[in-house]
Amino acid sequence: MAVDVSALLQRLNLSGPLSGVCAGDWTAQPGGSELVSYNPATDEPLGRVRTASHDDYERVIAASQAAFERWRRVPAPVRGDYVRKLALALREAKDDLGLLVTLESGKIVSESRGEVQEMIDIADFAVGLSRQLYGLTMPSERPEHRLFEQWHPLGPVGVLTAFNFPVAVWAWNAMLAAVCGDAVVWKPSPLTPLTAVAVQHICQRVMQGSGFEAVFGLCLGADRAIGEAMARDVRLPLISATGSTQMGQHVGQLVAARLGRSLLELGGNNAMIVTESADLSLALRAVVFAAAGTAGQRCTTLRRLIVHESIAERFTESLVQAYGSLPIGDPWDDGVLIGPLIRSTTIDTMHRALADARAQGGDILCGGDRLDRPGWFVTPAVVRAQRGMAIVRTETFAPILYVLTYRGFDDAIAIQNDSEHGLSSAVFTDRVTEAERFLSPWGSDCGIANVNIGTSGAEIGGAFGGEKGTGGGREAGSDAWKAYMRRQTCTVNFGRTLPLAQGVQFDVPE
Ligand code: UN1
Repeated sequence: MAVDVSALLQRLNLSGPLSGVCAGDWTAQPGGSELVSYNPATDEPLGRVRTASHDDYERVIAASQAAFERWRRVPAPVRGDYVRKLALALREAKDDLGLLVTLESGKIVSESRGEVQEMIDIADFAVGLSRQLYGLTMPSERPEHRLFEQWHPLGPVGVLTAFNFPVAVWAWNAMLAAVCGDAVVWKPSPLTPLTAVAVQHICQRVMQGSGFEAVFGLCLGADRAIGEAMARDVRLPLISATGSTQMGQHVGQLVAARLGRSLLELGGNNAMIVTESADLSLALRAVVFAAAGTAGQRCTTLRRLIVHESIAERFTESLVQAYGSLPIGDPWDDGVLIGPLIRSTTIDTMHRALADARAQGGDILCGGDRLDRPGWFVTPAVVRAQRGMAIVRTETFAPILYVLTYRGFDDAIAIQNDSEHGLSSAVFTDRVTEAERFLSPWGSDCGIANVNIGTSGAEIGGAFGGEKGTGGGREAGSDAWKAYMRRQTCTVNFGRTLPLAQGVQFDVPE
């Protein structure tokens, strides 16, 4: 399929040198350096975007604060109506925006359009949520008193996103934050600036003339400076950050130092247990999508496979065979399942991890070969590994799957939990006893635990995130919205006496 890139960029308002700063309206000439966005499948430049200087940053925050002051007075269902319009605009832009995600991040078109669908889904969810920002009412222990909680808008929220989900993760945060009455300042990954600018254009179009344009702000940074400024900034009561555990530790500490709130969605070293009773053809399909899909660059990517020793050999063989038939190539082409890695250094990182695996006693069964073509393509790797190998405990953001074996099911769970991360996990079994043990409090210690489904590809309806080195944050569905609001506990006395809680007597002499 030939892609007419310039026509696409034109349709998405991305022709010519672009601004990466928007706070109500676009800053024509941001003062930071220029970023070049490359297509990882060809290493050709796609476009140029100017990043924010410190002054630009200050303007974005000021506009965002001013927008928040007014936005929080708008009834939540009315805020939801703006998000509904955004969801409609995203539906219209789905094909184009999806293709742009493919060009800039390298993921295949079906996954890119799926990512835009994820934006639409969370927007729809947020619209409904705008009428359900419930607080609880509790019975007061005092007569003629009412005790209840309510949820108020929190403030401008800083959102730091990664290259691998360049638009959906912003939407998880921004759609919820908007209905909750917060303004959003977005710092996208410098590897995917065009998709961010395209999304910002959509926001601008939807919000134009409302007076609330600055509810959605964009502040692109060329390096760490803008992200760090956000993490330190008391004007941003919540920082939501997606990326590596190392990044999260840094950001989390900066935010904690000012007693701000952070919502961290960091790395994963996700595992799947395949038991003797598993439907192996189902398991195989799930493994290949979760481990090799998105070229191994999801935080939910399957990185460790824990197979019962009695079926390990057979299952690994079929896996290597399946890997051998995976179509690798231009991610915009029909039928291609594996696109490129995001940049050349990721190939080096992958090769280093494979060398470490070999040195530590691992057996590389397939993969790791760089394709002789432009762009950053590698064949996904399968490594037979042993428990205790240090590399197996490391998240390498590339398609490497370590295969381990187990004998007893408790042992399998112990291997699964033997990780610094705690994002996603899965078991393939037809035994209810194993499935339930896996889901029990002494089973998987991850934020996501699936039965007969792979580790990646979660729906937005549930809360998304994980424990330990994954950072503990929860985004998207369920009650994740509470992170974007402040809780207020209220007690109203509608009587004419002043009883004190806990029966305390404090009678002031008349
Ligand atoms: C990420 O990789 O940061 O569950 C997010 C999934 C997607 C989201 C991944 N819905 O794989």
